[in-house]
Amino acid sequence: MKLIYQQMLGFFLVIFTTLLIVSAAIINYNNRQAYETTWNQLEGYASKFGALFTQTDPQTGSYQSMSTDFLDEVKYVLSDDQVYYAIFNEDNAQIYPTSEGASVDLKLDAATWKKLKRGQIVRAQTNRTQNQGPKIGGGELAYVIYPWFNSNKEFVGAMYIGSRVTRIKSTLREMENNLLVALGISLLVALAISFVLARFHVRRINRLRQATRTVASGNFDVELVSNGRDEIDDLATDFNGMVLSLNESNREIARQEQRRREFMANAAHEMRTPLTTINGLLEGLAYDAIPEEAKGKSIELMQKETQRLIRLVNENLDYEKIRSNQIILNKREFNGAEAIGNIVEQLTKKAAAAGDKLVLDSKENVTVFADYDRFIQVIFNVTQNAIQFTENGQVTIALEQVEKGVQIKISDTGIGMSDDQLKNIWERYYKADPSRKNTKYGESGLGLAIVHSLVQQHGGKIDVTSQLKHGSTFTIFFPDKDHVPLAVAAKTAKPKKTPQA
Ligand SMILES: Nc1ncnc2c1ncn2[C@@H]1O[C@H](COP(=O)(O)OP(=O)(O)OP(=O)(O)O)[C@@H](O)[C@H]1O
Ligand SMILES: [Mg+2]
Repeated sequence: MKLIYQQMLGFFLVIFTTLLIVSAAIINYNNRQAYETTWNQLEGYASKFGALFTQTDPQTGSYQSMSTDFLDEVKYVLSDDQVYYAIFNEDNAQIYPTSEGASVDLKLDAATWKKLKRGQIVRAQTNRTQNQGPKIGGGELAYVIYPWFNSNKEFVGAMYIGSRVTRIKSTLREMENNLLVALGISLLVALAISFVLARFHVRRINRLRQATRTVASGNFDVELVSNGRDEIDDLATDFNGMVLSLNESNREIARQEQRRREFMANAAHEMRTPLTTINGLLEGLAYDAIPEEAKGKSIELMQKETQRLIRLVNENLDYEKIRSNQIILNKREFNGAEAIGNIVEQLTKKAAAAGDKLVLDSKENVTVFADYDRFIQVIFNVTQNAIQFTENGQVTIALEQVEKGVQIKISDTGIGMSDDQLKNIWERYYKADPSRKNTKYGESGLGLAIVHSLVQQHGGKIDVTSQLKHGSTFTIFFPDKDHVPLAVAAKTAKPKKTPQA
């Protein structure tokens, strides 16, 4: 059954039952009231008859008993009101009506007679099923039996006087009919009220349903009005709270997804360098393009790059790290000249292919404090860019100890960049010239964004100056051990044993 009908039925039953009880109470009260009035009226008659009956003759001093004719006349007058009566003398003998033509012939029972003698008035009623009491007039009666006393307070007789119940009933029936009409009208009103009430509640529930469907379809821009008046309002408040947290977790999912994508892109970028190097060396070995004396060095380089890949996989392709967007740096001190020397070795062939000269300008031993793999990644990316955008020129990597750290200057004599282009180069996926998208280096426009972020995580700095058609210079600074900014140092992992590169 639909909620609206259930609610209507509930409301209707409550209102209907209330009305029924009230009506029954009114009918019952009126019933009693009608009998009460009748009894009072009958008692009035009986008392007046008594006064007449006990009147004494001033001459003889004896009772002036009412004549039968008089009683007959009164009976005739009262017959319209369907009032019947009988009179008993002090010996419980019926003296009116007398046997001839009498509709009543009885003696009052001993118990009643006793009461009467004590001065008690007996009130009673007969109905169709009970067949007690005097049978005057027949049918249902409301009657009183009224004792008479003379002026000396002596019991002189009693009057039985009754009135047909039908007479009372007819007035009551009219009242009941009116009440029934009122009940009918009230029921119609009850039906209307229950409908309005039920619809009010059902509408509020439907609003909640609608909102639930909207949220289910992925739209979290929903807020229900709640006045905190009742449980449905409380439900609306809870619903609003639920939508808020759903919305929040939805945004969190989107953020996580974005981070995951970025991380995967970074990781792929990072892996490409060692894989390209290893592949190049393997090809050289396969085609015997590497002189015998250089083979040992090539294998060593491949080992180093492989170890770098393993570390990358072990340390960074960790789901938890992707989720919390953190990269742990394993910083240590190492010889920067040697590390960059390796990069130069790897890239010399590439530089030569572009007609470039790759030069390292450094003392033999320059201590750098950084995560070794990340340092390689930074210098490799910037140097590779320099080669990529320089033809038949020179790329110089200058490494020197400066105040509070080391500085690496990578300068080229390539195509350079305009001021406009320079503004955006640290942004992800930015390419100064989109037409260079599909060169053989497969640039994605990610390299410098990663480099920038890595240098910052080390507490370092990277700057660029460039002149269109004349070349660019990238200046990178790494702080030494004692000058790492506090905020950065806190995020750095304790040095642990990692395979030496
Ligand atoms: N030395 C340079 N000389 C001229 N332009 C450069 C130089 N370095 C970077 N750029 C410009 O900055 C852009 C961004 O460089 P970035 O290294 O971020 O991306 P990419 O080299 O195009 O691709 P990849 O993600 O493979 O490194 C380059 O596309 C290029 O236009
Ligand atoms: Mg690049």
